[in-house]
Amino acid sequence: MADGVLAGKTAFVAGGSSGINLGVAFGFAEAGARVVLLSRSRDKIDVAVAGLREAGYEASGFAADVRDYDAVEDALKRTHEADGPIDIVLSGAAGNFLAPAAKLSANGFKTVVDIDLLGTFNVFRASYEYLKKPGASLIAITAAQAVTPIANQIHACAAKAGVNMVTKCLALEWGPEGIRVNGIAPGPIADTEGMRRLAPTPEWEAAYKATIPMRDYGTKRDIANLAVFLASDAAGYISGTIVDCDGASGLTAGSVVRIDKT
Ligand code: NAP
Ligand code: COA
Repeated sequence: MADGVLAGKTAFVAGGSSGINLGVAFGFAEAGARVVLLSRSRDKIDVAVAGLREAGYEASGFAADVRDYDAVEDALKRTHEADGPIDIVLSGAAGNFLAPAAKLSANGFKTVVDIDLLGTFNVFRASYEYLKKPGASLIAITAAQAVTPIANQIHACAAKAGVNMVTKCLALEWGPEGIRVNGIAPGPIADTEGMRRLAPTPEWEAAYKATIPMRDYGTKRDIANLAVFLASDAAGYISGTIVDCDGASGLTAGSVVRIDKT
């Protein structure tokens, strides 16, 4: 990891208590940033913050739901009060499960859209007053589903498509103030809740990997490396872009059709 490239910076990581986003939080911390995590579960936040501190990093956290604008705003306000203008905001809270559209309830669809899409708007919108301007870097964690329809994930496909457009609209509107806004579209990442839900058996995992041009899942470190780059001054002219980090799996995502399995 690029030691020191984020030295002195503050990184706010929504959905940062586990999985890919916690991996990115470690990446930011290794690169010198102090990190602030937010997710619903106080227990998960406490464990994640303790892990970061045990590794020697400066970390703190808030228990809040990204669907609750006021709670998100309060966390960002308190981060600003403690650490000053916020340099990096990552929006990665998400929910997903496999459900055929014909069996998905309206509330099931709404729940995922509210967490992923409304949550991303809430996190970025609430951060606006507290960002370092110029210089802030906002990063949304999206997915291949944003551009390629995948069976049994109409909720996540629709939500992440919206996340991509929120990313691009904010890059357009906030660029003049020196705020960069980008997205990362991870491919299937090993040892994550997402892949435990989307490819829950060894057979399913093997079939999935056979469709990936690079023939394997990626790692949390792969996503962290990209996030550190996008957050750093080295990416100073990159904004409004969704970067795939997926072993080329986005090219074949549409072939992962599992209508028969659910
Ligand atoms: P994960 O470990 O379940 O991460 C989700 C995080 O979001 C958790 O920290 C969770 O903590 C938090 N969260 C969920 N709902 C929330 C809410 N309403 N408010 C606040 N925080 C909330 O899953 P993951 O697989 O690592 O996924 C992380 C991100 O990568 C997601 O955006 C996902 O769509 C994206 N992604 C993953 C993959 C993959 O291969 N896994 C591929 C493409 C994209 P709490 O439970 O404490 O709230
Ligand atoms: N299949 C179909 N519908 C489902 C479902 C599933 N596997 N899981 C939940 N739902 C539906 C529920 O039935 C409910 O709809 P209803 O009121 O019509 O019955 C709706 O979704 C909301 O469920 P609820 O459990 O109240 O939502 P929540 O806000 O407590 O949790 C989830 C959100 C459902 C997304 C939950 O799985 C979660 O917290 N996920 C976070 C972790 C995650 O998904 N990680 C992977 C990221 S890629």
